[in-house]
Amino acid sequence: MVALKHYKEHVKAAVAAGADLIVCGAGLPLELPSLVPKESGSKIAPIVSSRRAAEILLKKWDKQYERTADLLVVEGPKAGGHLGFHEEELKDVDHIDFDEQVREIVECKKTYEEKYHVSIPVVVGGGVFNRDDIVHVMDLGADGVQIASRFVATDECDASQAYKQSYVDAKPEDIQIVKSPVGMPGRAIRNAFVKQVEAHRVPVTKCYNCLKKCNPGEVPYCITKALTNAVKGDLDHGLIFCGANVGKIKEIVPVHQLIKELVYG
Ligand SMILES: Cc1cc2nc3c(=O)[nH]c(=O)nc-3n(C[C@H](O)[C@H](O)[C@H](O)COP(=O)(O)O)c2cc1C
Repeated sequence: MVALKHYKEHVKAAVAAGADLIVCGAGLPLELPSLVPKESGSKIAPIVSSRRAAEILLKKWDKQYERTADLLVVEGPKAGGHLGFHEEELKDVDHIDFDEQVREIVECKKTYEEKYHVSIPVVVGGGVFNRDDIVHVMDLGADGVQIASRFVATDECDASQAYKQSYVDAKPEDIQIVKSPVGMPGRAIRNAFVKQVEAHRVPVTKCYNCLKKCNPGEVPYCITKALTNAVKGDLDHGLIFCGANVGKIKEIVPVHQLIKELVYG
């Protein structure tokens, strides 16, 4: 996450550890090439949510570093967690022509594929729920999909059982856009915690030093504490991030079964 206070140190540590691929989001990773020397062999992938962001980033990397992306992750308005859209836009996600953004990003990256004689795969995420959705984004020109929410509701996911069950129990009307101290809107299940922070702030008792821009004395709650509480199963004090299609999840299944369903329908 570009928004992290120790973002650069995290990237450098990943390179030193021999990471194959570094995926950066929660802000545009404009300086990422300067942190990942080409000789390191670590590949770099920005997360973008619009053609405009993709264009700005690829142009900057080209001009300033003579580099291009090794892979592009395109995250749409139906994704879970922090979102690269304005709160206003997210009130009516069906009004955002995300398909068009994907098509345009696929077009835009071709310039850089030609210039650098490489292939830049495009991976699309956000609301991809079943085989038809996968076929749909591949038809738009994507090379792969990034799926999160469905894999939370699997036996193998290491979140608490309570977290996974909250996905199974969630109805479409339980999902809402929340403000996050990260400075981006996020999508989460409307639980006791979300209602509580709407009414008053939850004072920060311990600072984890996670974000570049965070004033623990002012933020409505601590994002690190809220997310870890939820993952550990303390849902009443936790923020349950989820994708827009979480209401369609009906059971917790083994990953093997989910993959079979996604691949064969
Ligand atoms: C619980 C949860 C936590 C997430 N946390 C992150 C994160 O820390 N960084 C990130 O880049 N994306 C994060 N995401 C977004 C996913 O990586 C993914 O792109 C998106 O949720 C895909 O949409 P889907 O959940 O509808 O499949 C998160 C998603 C969920 C559901």
